[in-house]
Amino acid sequence: MPLPPFRPPRGAELDAPPFDPDEGGASAVEAGGEDEVRNEQIERLLQAMEDLPSHPTVALRVLWLVDDPSSDVARLAKTVELDPLLAARLIRISNSAYYSLRTPVTNVPRAIAALGFATVRSLAASAACGLTDDDTAVEGEFWSHAAAVANAAQLVAPRYAVPPSDAFALGLLHDLGEALLHQAAPAAWSQLGPRPTPQREIELLGITHAEAGARVLEAWKFPAAFCEAIANHHHTLSPRETPLTQCLIAAELVANLAVGDITIARGDAARMVLALDGIEGEGLDRIVSRVRHETAALSAVLTAGDAP
Ligand SMILES: [Fe+2]
Ligand SMILES: [Fe+2]
Repeated sequence: MPLPPFRPPRGAELDAPPFDPDEGGASAVEAGGEDEVRNEQIERLLQAMEDLPSHPTVALRVLWLVDDPSSDVARLAKTVELDPLLAARLIRISNSAYYSLRTPVTNVPRAIAALGFATVRSLAASAACGLTDDDTAVEGEFWSHAAAVANAAQLVAPRYAVPPSDAFALGLLHDLGEALLHQAAPAAWSQLGPRPTPQREIELLGITHAEAGARVLEAWKFPAAFCEAIANHHHTLSPRETPLTQCLIAAELVANLAVGDITIARGDAARMVLALDGIEGEGLDRIVSRVRHETAALSAVLTAGDAP
């Protein structure tokens, strides 16, 4: 599904009245001119996301620098060091059991070199969205799922000829829209219940979490293929999707098998879909057990407090 053209929410002129994120989407859609109303509603929702409490300045500069071809580790590190919490977080994650480096990382340049630009970008984006702030932090479950999908994505990446570090970064951020919608429209979001369908999200919020996450990252100049994979991550696994999207869809299935709370029937269905893509038997069992063992360590560093 190609994304519609994006008008950056920051500073956008909005004719509509101030957005009440909890007013719900259904009544607005009934007012007529469905597409127009929906687009206007999406713009206001994205604007509300931009206004979330956060300290995005340094994190946003990091996002710009990561994409600048002339950037190097030293230049990026100088900017990261302006935000002690982000710096501490990168160092802590690179020292986690997950990366199991021989020599402990004690400074930002080494942390960036160990994690790679793609992962630094995902962590900066979550900071820019306020997902790591003490007062707005999302629930631990968000990060444990993100960690499981990131883990699984890098393990299945070779099957889709995707760089493992890109797959890992994508897994970390794939449900960003969920966290943003939860923060921007808590009452509407709480009506959704567990595992809402995209149709239900549109009914209540006017937009799916997949599309919302993709649109915000698109505005922040994340690579188009990355945004497309996020927009389409609840599609069925099929060769019609891009390799990065297929990798993310497969990773979500593997993560659900490893640490998800799913029924036997859903587990069997996931195994069948993965088998059709050539991920099966001992290979799948090995990946599932690695994700099960490694997710706890990664999730612990992602959810731990930010005190250095
Ligand atoms: Fe999702
Ligand atoms: Fe997910």
